[in-house]
Amino acid sequence: MKAIAIDGPAGAGKSTIARAVAQELQFIYVDTGALYRSIGLYAVRKGKDYTDGAQVTPLLPGIRLELKFVEGTQRVFLNGEDVSDLIRTPEIAMAASGVSAIPAVRDFLFDLQRDMAKEHNVVMDGRDIGTVVLPDADVKIFLTASPEARARRRFDEHAAKGEKVSYDDILRDVITRDYNDSHRAVAPLKQASDALLLDTTDMDLKESIQAVKDLVAGHL
Ligand code: C5P
Repeated sequence: MKAIAIDGPAGAGKSTIARAVAQELQFIYVDTGALYRSIGLYAVRKGKDYTDGAQVTPLLPGIRLELKFVEGTQRVFLNGEDVSDLIRTPEIAMAASGVSAIPAVRDFLFDLQRDMAKEHNVVMDGRDIGTVVLPDADVKIFLTASPEARARRRFDEHAAKGEKVSYDDILRDVITRDYNDSHRAVAPLKQASDALLLDTTDMDLKESIQAVKDLVAGHL
């Protein structure tokens, strides 16, 4: 099986780019952030403090997550419920960032992610795919862009869906999540030593997709 790992901070364009690359290669695109978001959603629904391991860890045995692929698009099921759309809110993004710092949560998701890569050719995106989940991935890419460029993209995404959000709030969230993700003790966001770095600050989406396709073609 072949694996391409794409890591980087929120809003670097990972998911859109990973999806395009997977489609071209006929690989499965696995969005690991959706798994952390689903656990975040579960913790919020249960009224727990999602940053507190003592409150979140006991919830894990009650959580069953499944990834299904419908026409190449990943859907995530939380105890049988398709939560793929519900997890795409700023509140759940923060909850995901909170639960992701809890070691038991990362352990809980480790096998699920590894199994996907054992069974399929994958493009997998996340924060620790090249460093922890798939250290032997065939190609590793670390995708980044300035916080302002990433906040602008997120803002445009929400605006395109007709959602009222403030750019300043999004920028603040991006900076907070970056800080949380790169300073946590377990599996912090960092570039693997053998990952290829791509900064997309000055690229539009089309250029970023092409740049990643070129890197993959040159290294797969
Ligand atoms: O990629 P996405 O924004 O959906 O991820 C939500 C949160 O889940 C991230 O801010 C990060 O805290 C966490 N995450 C992680 N490890 C991954 C994927 C996501 O810690 N592999």
